[in-house]
Amino acid sequence: MCGIVGYVGAAPALDVVLEGLRRLEYRGYDSAGVAVLDDAQLQVERRAGKLANLDAALAGRQVNGTLGIGHTRWATHGPPTDRNAHPHTDCSGAVAVVHNGTIENFAELRDGLERRGHELASDTDTEAVAHLIEERYADGPTAGDLAASVRSVCRDLDGSFVLVVAHRDHPDLVIGARRNLPLVVGIGEGENFLASDVTAFISHTREARALDQDQLVELRRDGVRVTDLDGNEVPGETFHVDWDTAAAEKAGYEYFMLKEIQEQPEAVSQTIGGRIAANGKLLLDELSISDEDVRDFDKVFFVACGSAYHSSIVGKYAIERWCRLPVEVEMASEFRYRDPVLDKDTLVIAVSQSGETADTLEAVRHARQQRAWVMAITNTVGSSIARESNAAFYTRGGPEIAVASTKATMTQLAAVYLVGLFLAQVRGTREDDEVRSHFHDLATIPELLRDVLGRMDGTRKLARELANEERVLFLGRHVGYPMALEGALKLKELAYVSAEGMPAGEIKHGPIALIEKGTPVVVLATRHALQPKLVTNIQEIRARGARTIVIATDGDDTVAPYADHLIRLPDTKSLLSPLLMLVPLQVLAAEFAMARGLDIDQPRNLAKSVTVE
Ligand code: F6R
Repeated sequence: MCGIVGYVGAAPALDVVLEGLRRLEYRGYDSAGVAVLDDAQLQVERRAGKLANLDAALAGRQVNGTLGIGHTRWATHGPPTDRNAHPHTDCSGAVAVVHNGTIENFAELRDGLERRGHELASDTDTEAVAHLIEERYADGPTAGDLAASVRSVCRDLDGSFVLVVAHRDHPDLVIGARRNLPLVVGIGEGENFLASDVTAFISHTREARALDQDQLVELRRDGVRVTDLDGNEVPGETFHVDWDTAAAEKAGYEYFMLKEIQEQPEAVSQTIGGRIAANGKLLLDELSISDEDVRDFDKVFFVACGSAYHSSIVGKYAIERWCRLPVEVEMASEFRYRDPVLDKDTLVIAVSQSGETADTLEAVRHARQQRAWVMAITNTVGSSIARESNAAFYTRGGPEIAVASTKATMTQLAAVYLVGLFLAQVRGTREDDEVRSHFHDLATIPELLRDVLGRMDGTRKLARELANEERVLFLGRHVGYPMALEGALKLKELAYVSAEGMPAGEIKHGPIALIEKGTPVVVLATRHALQPKLVTNIQEIRARGARTIVIATDGDDTVAPYADHLIRLPDTKSLLSPLLMLVPLQVLAAEFAMARGLDIDQPRNLAKSVTVE
């Protein structure tokens, strides 16, 4: 998804903006550009393709100036060409605009502008905004007032946007505005920043403020002023980013994804750290909800997308087991359209790494309109989903840069277990001792993960052997089922092969027809009450020629005779086993894709945070 950077300060703006764009590369993009205010002229450069193309275009150009804006674009309106790349300017080159999102009434706005004599040079919705600002700044009640002109234009836009604007008459002012998409202000000394996320500026400052819905910020060297779209100043809180630039760098790994896989033990420790008091009470204080309200919930919905949806299915199994509450898991993109039955006694848990996924955000809004109590489980402090929910439970996984989710999914799993235990404790469906015992099992996971990570050589070798396969199936039962879905999703998105995850018991109802001699089938068969049934399923597929890759618990020999390849995991409580299963699935997919020569950090067609519905 597009990345946005704005800067005003004392440093060379081009360097700051390009560095910020580089840090946002992980979001996925297909063109990039910058505008720097240099001696009362906006120097604009933009190029299709990677940042290296922009660097090459800028090489040898003398661009000075301490105010600039930049953008990495993920094409929506018009193909990813030089002329469609941002920044876009008005007729005279006085205004430069970068934009994230989609403006739904853009056709009408462009028609009006063309009728009024403007010449639009791109296919984008964004360019219309530059020309509209030009008009409002030139004439009428907002003439000469850049912030008021941008506010006035924003009021006329339908859809979602983050806009960052520079004007050649304003050497000390960058304007940012947002609706439905994230924009964060970085607060420095004598310099201030704007960005789609804090990664862009944490090497300069770790103090930040997230803008709220329909707010505009005037960014100057000596301060920031935030208003609503009517111009009223609005208070807001700053927050401190408690991870540093090292967390957002590769640290010697070839890919961020490989580093993030290795970071998982520490990430889980962060999620669960400090969550239990000496008396065994779980401390989820940030949920700030009364025990009475927790006891009143009579059903739970998880809403999420992709990997977060898979974590949510595990959450369902945990909450149903521990709390005896009915739980539904819904893909966020479907949730509001089928008009689910919600009321004030419904708990809706929105799981989202980025906290900005449009489908999940809309599901949150729908749930709140129906008076449900909404809890966000997210990795991103100050994100839209966190802010628009009743309460946010932060997974504290640290920045996840690779597009494919690994440690974020892992910490979401840890979080759904914690929430399940918390509900069970408050509702009294589990004794404190039992809650404490489950928590202690959870607390052993980081060590077990280190063990698993140390055993992955065989899995990597196997992945390389399989790398020419075009179809892989994943089977599991109970909590192994969502992990089968996750294993298949990872392989699809990274290696571009057709992969399907399904409940092992379902295969005989149709999918078994896919199996022919040599078809690789990954079976998640760790120790579990359902294992005898799984053994039968493995025999069924093996009899049809499948090449079985079985993930099994140390010391368990019941499945070994049916495995062409065995991947062993240490023992843990079966309900918690997804935490360990995830690792070989991630490693398998990453190594498989690398063996095919693919970039596992930025898989084709994907974006890190999907802010369009
Ligand atoms: C898969 C992946 C996606 C995300 C999904 C939800 O590896 O990364 O499926 O899990 O787009 O994203 P968040 O969690 O940011 O809402």
